[in-house]
Amino acid sequence: MNIRIASEVPSGSGVLVRLVAKEECSKLSPAPTSKEFSAAVGSVLSDRSNGVLYVGIGDQSKIDGPSIRRAVSSAALIIRKLGKEKAALLLGDRVGFAEEAVEGFVLGGYRYEAFLPERRRTSAVSSLAVVVGKESVGTVRKAVFRGQILGDSANMAREIANTPGNLLYPETLVEKARGLCRRRGLKFRVLDATGLKKGGFGGILAVGGGSARGPRLLAIEHRGGRKGEHPLVLVGKAITFDSGGISIKPAAGMEEMIFDKCGGMAVLGAMDAIAALGVKRNVVGILAAAENMPSGEAYRPGDIVTMYDGTTVEVVNTDAEGRMVLGDALGWAIREFKAGKMIDLATLTGACGVALGEHAAGLWSNEAAFIEEVQEAASQSGERVWPMPSFEEYGTQIRSSVATLKNSGGWLGGACTAAAFLRSFVGATPWAHLDIAYTSHRSKDQEGLASGATGFGVRTLVRLAESV
Ligand code: BES
Ligand code: MN
Ligand code: ZN
Repeated sequence: MNIRIASEVPSGSGVLVRLVAKEECSKLSPAPTSKEFSAAVGSVLSDRSNGVLYVGIGDQSKIDGPSIRRAVSSAALIIRKLGKEKAALLLGDRVGFAEEAVEGFVLGGYRYEAFLPERRRTSAVSSLAVVVGKESVGTVRKAVFRGQILGDSANMAREIANTPGNLLYPETLVEKARGLCRRRGLKFRVLDATGLKKGGFGGILAVGGGSARGPRLLAIEHRGGRKGEHPLVLVGKAITFDSGGISIKPAAGMEEMIFDKCGGMAVLGAMDAIAALGVKRNVVGILAAAENMPSGEAYRPGDIVTMYDGTTVEVVNTDAEGRMVLGDALGWAIREFKAGKMIDLATLTGACGVALGEHAAGLWSNEAAFIEEVQEAASQSGERVWPMPSFEEYGTQIRSSVATLKNSGGWLGGACTAAAFLRSFVGATPWAHLDIAYTSHRSKDQEGLASGATGFGVRTLVRLAESV
């Protein structure tokens, strides 16, 4: 999308998006009834006669970055559905929110249409004018650039995340990541089955063993800091399809498990933006990619697996595969990359959805200050996270009588026992974990985002990398 900054609405610029606070409703002529248009955040009123799309931004006193982002993305989603190719976004004196507004416009305008028949495809906006006061034309440039990068990187992650398992599997994911790294000048490393065996990555090999499409472990390195600076390591679960394996899942809804790679896609999207923005610190992105399938070569309940760091794990449920691949990846982050801090993102447990619904990702950490840092980055991004408990008893629940750990502690506190499992691989390294099982994708258009992958985590990770 071509974005230009203007001090007046250029002629022929298509749909005009106007932000309207509740207090401003009465000033519109003709003034809409409250039934027609409430001006609540994300509500819209389109005036066909003059080509204006009014979008509500709520109470004047409560306007903030996230509400502007939400509102603009709702407008952009509508424009996408209308198939309009040109738009102008009138920011006026709300120029302080230009980054969030542009981010919202880019996010809202994305839809996964790769396999829709031609007649059901809609064209995206190709040209957007951001209209601000004359005095701001020069100063708003950086914010617009940032908003566009953050939105584009998230959409890139969503596009890959939306790609189904027959097309997107560890090997093809590697090719996507390799292309991205080439474009952005990022260092790229990949371990295939041979490298994984040599390195002793028992968890990833066990999970990937059942699939004809072998697992991969990827590392993407951004060197924005000084040499020797311990990196922030972003770790993502990238299960390209999760059938559950031998502990197979019920048929209903199993198609959703193409989204089990969303943690990895969040990391990939974040690395893309971190490189584009030239973030001045060292950041490493690690993706643990595997397909969890049942077969004659699949790992089985009862197996005892030796992980990368030497921990032994009794497999009690092959569907608890995310923690198996992540345990290896976290161990690698410490030993290979000397992680200063790390955060993992994973569609880890259905239990997290039971606890929080689809409105927030669960957040765990071994350091109180890190929880606050993640919360701050998430609130700036408009991505909800919620701190969850790490009682010692959760660790007791996953003790095995035949190995160091077992990979499931049963259904009680399932999201917390999964987090406890991960925690046992991080030692004293500051670490945080986001369970994004139910925030990573949507079954319908919602809150200004089209159905499918939401890109949850991409923008929070970027803002975190800029702040810690
Ligand atoms: N990928 C799933 C978690 C999931 C479930 C994500 C629903 C999104 C929607 C994960 O690998 C899984 O299967 N977890 C099990 C763990 C259990 C076997 C201990 C679960 O949540 O049931
Ligand atoms: Mn599973
Ligand atoms: Zn899974």
